[in-house]
Amino acid sequence: MRSEAPPMIKLSDYQAPAFLVRHVDLKFCLHPTATRVFSRLECVPNTGKSAFLLNGEELQLISVEIDGKPLADDALILTETTLEIAADALPDGDFTLCCETEINPEGNTSLDGLYMSKGMYCTQCEAEGFRKITFFPDRPDIMATYSVRIESDEPVMLSNGNPTASGPGWAEWHDPWPKPSYLFALVAGNLVSYDDSFLTMSGREVGLKIYVRPGDKHRCEYAMDALKRSMRWDEQVYGREYDLDLFMIVAVDDFNMGAMENKGLNIFNSKYVLASAEIATDRDYELIEGIIAHEYFHNWTGNRITCRDWFQLCLKEGLTVYRDQQFSGDQRGHAVQRIDDVKMLRARQFREDAGPLAHPVRPEEYIEINNFYTATVYEKGAEVIGMLRTLVGAEAYERALTLYFQRHDGQACTIEDWIKVFEDVTGTDLAQFKRWYSQAGTPRISVKEDWDGNTYMLTLTQKTDPTPGQPDKQPLVIPVASGLLGSDGTELHSTEVLVLDKAEQTYRFEGLPEKPIPSLFRGFSAPVIVERKISNAERAFLLANDTDPFNKWEMGRAYALDLLSVLATDAESTIEPDFLNAMATLLEDQTLDPAFKALALSLPSIEDVMDAVRQGGGTPDPMACYDALSRLDTAMAGRMKGTIEQIYNALDNDGPYTPDPQAAGERSLRGRLLGLISRLEPNVETAMRHLAHADNMTDIMQALPLLIRAGRPEAKEALGSIYESWKHNDLVLDKWFAAQAMATPPEHAAEAVAQLTEHPDFHWKNPNRFRSVIGVFAMANVAGFHRADGAGYKLLTDWLIRLDPVNPQTTARLAGAFETWRNFDDGRQALMLGNMQRIADLKGLSKDTGEIIGRILE
Ligand code: ARG
Ligand code: ZN
Repeated sequence: MRSEAPPMIKLSDYQAPAFLVRHVDLKFCLHPTATRVFSRLECVPNTGKSAFLLNGEELQLISVEIDGKPLADDALILTETTLEIAADALPDGDFTLCCETEINPEGNTSLDGLYMSKGMYCTQCEAEGFRKITFFPDRPDIMATYSVRIESDEPVMLSNGNPTASGPGWAEWHDPWPKPSYLFALVAGNLVSYDDSFLTMSGREVGLKIYVRPGDKHRCEYAMDALKRSMRWDEQVYGREYDLDLFMIVAVDDFNMGAMENKGLNIFNSKYVLASAEIATDRDYELIEGIIAHEYFHNWTGNRITCRDWFQLCLKEGLTVYRDQQFSGDQRGHAVQRIDDVKMLRARQFREDAGPLAHPVRPEEYIEINNFYTATVYEKGAEVIGMLRTLVGAEAYERALTLYFQRHDGQACTIEDWIKVFEDVTGTDLAQFKRWYSQAGTPRISVKEDWDGNTYMLTLTQKTDPTPGQPDKQPLVIPVASGLLGSDGTELHSTEVLVLDKAEQTYRFEGLPEKPIPSLFRGFSAPVIVERKISNAERAFLLANDTDPFNKWEMGRAYALDLLSVLATDAESTIEPDFLNAMATLLEDQTLDPAFKALALSLPSIEDVMDAVRQGGGTPDPMACYDALSRLDTAMAGRMKGTIEQIYNALDNDGPYTPDPQAAGERSLRGRLLGLISRLEPNVETAMRHLAHADNMTDIMQALPLLIRAGRPEAKEALGSIYESWKHNDLVLDKWFAAQAMATPPEHAAEAVAQLTEHPDFHWKNPNRFRSVIGVFAMANVAGFHRADGAGYKLLTDWLIRLDPVNPQTTARLAGAFETWRNFDDGRQALMLGNMQRIADLKGLSKDTGEIIGRILE
């Protein structure tokens, strides 16, 4: 029997807290299975006489006192998740509440709260982990200063803020900045630090420390460099200075997410800190830079100004993602950054918005908040800020941000507060724009053109399909950055932002010498789907001539998708030589930079192809889509045969590996060309040579999947020798597992992955390892996962069932692999449904996974 259904939390039920907490004193006596936590809270009544409700989960209550006096038994109500103190038992006015609790870090496999990772104590408190440490009103609108004392034999003991005192077996910390409990952190263990310092804009020296396990210190240099560049950038671009004497980062091997912005003590998944040429790929370096920046930027957007409640999560996450994307663009080039960001937005957020898990950027209800750390809240949340900036202009955006920091520093805010600063600065009403926060779904834009010999008329129509709970949609405010080109490729009308805020609108451009070719949504100026009937000739024209690099890339992609959707439904169809010619021209273009070329020469993902087939009214067969991609790739390789080899060889750089964007761009083009060359070589000899000469992980990870995909016996040897050299490095082993889960041909991927799970190094309780095998299989070996006999679905489901009682958060996330189930044929739908039902029927299923599966099935 299932116990009571977990409650639905609603934004409309928000109530201000009955009590505030001004200051928190904590003392930890650490022990792996019996840690004692002593808390002393300075409490202040806030809304009149009422009971005091504290959260607490998996805690053993030892004692509780108010103003130094124990409470009578009948003054307390203790449940599985709360401690309630009766109003009568509380004095009028301020009081102190002291609690002693015992917790079991080693028994905490959820990696939420205080837990142990390879013998080291660490915490994760966002969103609601602090309640697993001590009884507390665990909600972000309660901001307090914290003093922490840690007692243990561990050589390093860390918490938020500045160190105040320490001695043998103890350390004390004080954080002077009021913060919500979700930003609390504690770390203790045998760690070493990589040190540096930073001189802030006002001339204060800040100590910087990255803590890692002994042996990893030589892999911190890049993260430290990224941190210093982030700190400088936030000063220069947003005027934000760091506010403590010390900034610390700790790398942890067992972590549910990427990283966490705890005040002054960021905790990171080690894969986003540790890097050296031999263990990290260019992509890893890029992610490290972006995530270091993201967590650092949270110090102002998240920590100094936080969220009133968890419905406002996008207030900090959307803005911080937007800021880290701006930063990465400044570091690496805006065109390539934008294309990468949009690829990811489409792959994850558009997919979410089009399925049963669709929700607004600011959701209005949830069962488990951890299920709402989504691409919609993060990435679409960032897009909304980008649109706002486009609409008000860069200068007004800057003034609005300055006002935001000034007006709300030290507060827990809402989206209303955020919108208000823009309204106050610009004097415009943003009520309609605000719909982007409340209306789910990706708008579809249709385009109609008219030309009367002088005037060009562009008619745009917007429509958003229904999403769960939202049958009717309102028009949004959509910035459409547009330019017009002449038939000779000149720009007749340079980029202008048209504002589409009605269901349909017509824009007129007068006095044009010829019918122009429009370039719409330049730079992807809004997160929409453009449904424009456009010929492949026009696509080829824009691919060759558009001055906007995003749209140049976009046209190549649209052209390829058009061909692929035909190939996927008719394997006999021929491939238009014009496309192959356009790709060949692009490859030889001397004016394009290598990173851009690599993107433009890449084919869309298999999921994009499946979507395109569905757009055309068909039901996609994953295997046919996989084959279509192979065919087009092979055709491209055939067309460019001579050139690809020549350029591939010319890109061979004999110098030592450097992770800078230029070198990385050249490697990514070289990797793409290697992929093409391998299509023409049954023995993949070039990939073999590439691997043999590799002196860095990027090159290895370019060649290895090609050998695996080709089913070459050499792949086994390569895997064996990489394993022998790196079996003691978990980050490399994760890639070793992932390459096999991803690149094994779909026909026998399920068996190969099942075998990987038998490997002695498949430590399935470690989220990185679980994701490298099961997650990569379900998300990145699409045709293998969706094999018609259902072997892929069964494999995923068996593992989710095993993981759920251990780590609900990671289980729920991977259950999202089923969110597209309705896009498939009846046979596959029935198989997916049966497997989801197996999960739904489990006794004691977590509320995390229960909510996700419940919404998918609804
Ligand atoms: N705030 C963190 C970040 O964006 C993510 C924390 C996610 N935690 C969670 N339990 N879902 O950097
Ligand atoms: Zn964040």
